[in-house]
Amino acid sequence: MQNFDQFIGSFSFDDRLAEVDITGSIAHTKMLIKTGIINSSDGEKIVSGLTSILKDMEKGWKLPDEEDVHYAVEKELMRRIGSVGGKMHTARSRNDQVATDLRIYLKQKIGVIQGLINDFQKVLVKKADENIDVVMPGFTHLQPAQPVLAAHHLLAYAWMMQRDKERLTDCYKRTDILPLGSAALAGTSFDIDRQYTAKLLDFKNVSENSLDAVSDRDFAVEFVFCISLTALHLTRFCEEIILWMNPEFGYITIDDKFTSGSSIMPQKRNPDCAEVIRGKSGRIFGDLIALLTIIKSLPLAYNRDLQEDKPPVFDALDNIKMCLEVMNEMADSLKFVIEKTLKSTEKGFIAATEIADYLARNNVPFRVAHGIVKDIVLYCGKNSKTLNELSLEEYRKFSEIFKEDIFKHLDIRNIAEMKTSYGGTSKKSVLRQIDNIKQKLE
Ligand code: ARG
Repeated sequence: MQNFDQFIGSFSFDDRLAEVDITGSIAHTKMLIKTGIINSSDGEKIVSGLTSILKDMEKGWKLPDEEDVHYAVEKELMRRIGSVGGKMHTARSRNDQVATDLRIYLKQKIGVIQGLINDFQKVLVKKADENIDVVMPGFTHLQPAQPVLAAHHLLAYAWMMQRDKERLTDCYKRTDILPLGSAALAGTSFDIDRQYTAKLLDFKNVSENSLDAVSDRDFAVEFVFCISLTALHLTRFCEEIILWMNPEFGYITIDDKFTSGSSIMPQKRNPDCAEVIRGKSGRIFGDLIALLTIIKSLPLAYNRDLQEDKPPVFDALDNIKMCLEVMNEMADSLKFVIEKTLKSTEKGFIAATEIADYLARNNVPFRVAHGIVKDIVLYCGKNSKTLNELSLEEYRKFSEIFKEDIFKHLDIRNIAEMKTSYGGTSKKSVLRQIDNIKQKLE
């Protein structure tokens, strides 16, 4: 037998909005007093009743269970100050109230997530600084491609995070619009002052269309999308942590506390934290799809389906917060194993492009140069040699253009050093990058 009240209720998941709900109600009441819609003696009773609830909640007291958080606050207010508390709901509806609550709440949380992203960027920049001289293979298709600085690789994530942070700033702009005063759907015949409420609640603008204001949740979708992209970026870094910790790579170590052992294989150190962050993306993407689906096809204006917006929004928020907190500590413990990264640059002929560039700089059309170097690599493969182990005579068998200075172009560090183009992997370019990203950190 279903308990229908519980079924249509939302208190089990919207109680976390209690604080912002009360803040919203205090502002609304002050507006009602200012406009003379309710008298100030009644209004002040309401404001002090609401304030006392807030204070008790701060001490750990919990609102008694109701259909939803809005009823819970209102009924508690009436228990405390009597039926005058019912005047608080003049000129508003739960429809504009809930949309307002969610916007206030997300505006606060956007700042929290941006703070965590900013912390992650700081860790990445610190690690880039610490490892500015570490060279490793860069990959395409996960095959050795060209040497890059480890710092350059880490900073790639710092820039992704920068865009994530900026995207949230943009999301904030569209969240910073006050729906309160739209009432149920059509606005209200009371002579309210929405600009005043907006000022009290620190909203930049008020909504222009009451139907739109109570029925869209696009700001929440955008928020969860922003979070999803951050989660996606984290999965890429986690994947690399997992690969780089594999003894086949052995490029890095992280603190043991971010790993776990196996119950059967005594030698194991599994990168569980990185794996869990990678896995959490699944539920966060799921939250985004859930939210899109809930809103899809809803006729205007408010529909109760919209109540289901909260679990996915809160789930995405809670999980990205945890992921970023863990990531920040884990990344801070990351150390490069220089012998391994360097050793790895000897594999995979990652100087090949540089040799082709050498020929191209000596007037060989790049396509021809590409063919020559491809033959050299095949020759190395057949004779089990690296590009460094060939003699000048061997090089000259492929092209008369090769001179003694070719060996300078085979030095891995030197190859990275020559990538001086803006945004490239030379130390000079990377140091400039570090300067540039530092200016974007708070
Ligand atoms: N708990 C509801 C929600 O979260 C509040 C709005 C209810 N409005 C209504 N007309 N039944 O959406």
